[in-house]
Amino acid sequence: MSERITLKSPHQIELMRQAGRLAAMARAYGGSLVQPGITTREIDHEIGKFIKSHGGYPSCYHLYGFKGNACISVNDEIIHGVPSGRKLKEGDIVSIDLTACVGDYRLDSQGVAVGGYHGDCCATFPCGEISEEARRLIEGTERAFWAGFRMAKAGNHVSDISRAVQTSAEGDGYSLVREYTGHGIGRSVHEAPEVPNYVSPRTLSGSPRLYKNMVICVEPMVNAGSARIRNRRMPDGWEVPMTADGKLAAHYENTILITEGEAEILTRCGD
Ligand code: MF3
Ligand code: CO
Ligand code: CO
Repeated sequence: MSERITLKSPHQIELMRQAGRLAAMARAYGGSLVQPGITTREIDHEIGKFIKSHGGYPSCYHLYGFKGNACISVNDEIIHGVPSGRKLKEGDIVSIDLTACVGDYRLDSQGVAVGGYHGDCCATFPCGEISEEARRLIEGTERAFWAGFRMAKAGNHVSDISRAVQTSAEGDGYSLVREYTGHGIGRSVHEAPEVPNYVSPRTLSGSPRLYKNMVICVEPMVNAGSARIRNRRMPDGWEVPMTADGKLAAHYENTILITEGEAEILTRCGD
């Protein structure tokens, strides 16, 4: 993660609107494919084709060594799920977290996008009929995002977002993952600042102020049970954080532009 918080120019913001719209379209498309019998790899391939055919690039591809176009996390997988031959079953909940980039990116020798402008978003989708408990978790996670969103304006601090997310999700009886956070975004998927989903003496001290033309990702990762995670290590060393207690997890994310009023959702496509 680069250290400096960057403010975006009008031209950069326009490119980030394009990236965000494409990411949101791909999220909706991926979500429309979630149904019993499809594999997460099939969804991932479709998302990659979709983003490329719309003139962008799936910038999670090979990022940090990730083997896929999009992170697809099922049930107790919290984030960073690797697309595979796993067939989705009725009742599963499926988080699709993806990024799209547009503009002046180039691909390095691993196929990782360098430069350009990125949009990052996620939602958790039901596979067929899901339990009442699962549906409530998905709704609570989205509500926590919107609680944070309402605090995301110039003059507030990042910790105001964090506190609102935490108060909302904990108020619903859920817990927030601490090991992963939201983040700034721009020419890289991950920029400063970190946007934690909880407050503590450490996150409160020196929490950055929000300025107009910052772009950040707010992304509550919400566990139905305990906040504790355990990592499942894939053969290639990739780690997938899972709930330690095996209960469900959900994730919801948008890329937002800070203004003096209500923030602008960049990962939006009118779906
Ligand atoms: N989309 C993720 C985020 O919200 C980043 C995924 S990194 C990857 O920050 F390497 F796993 F793709
Ligand atoms: Co994401
Ligand atoms: Co993100």
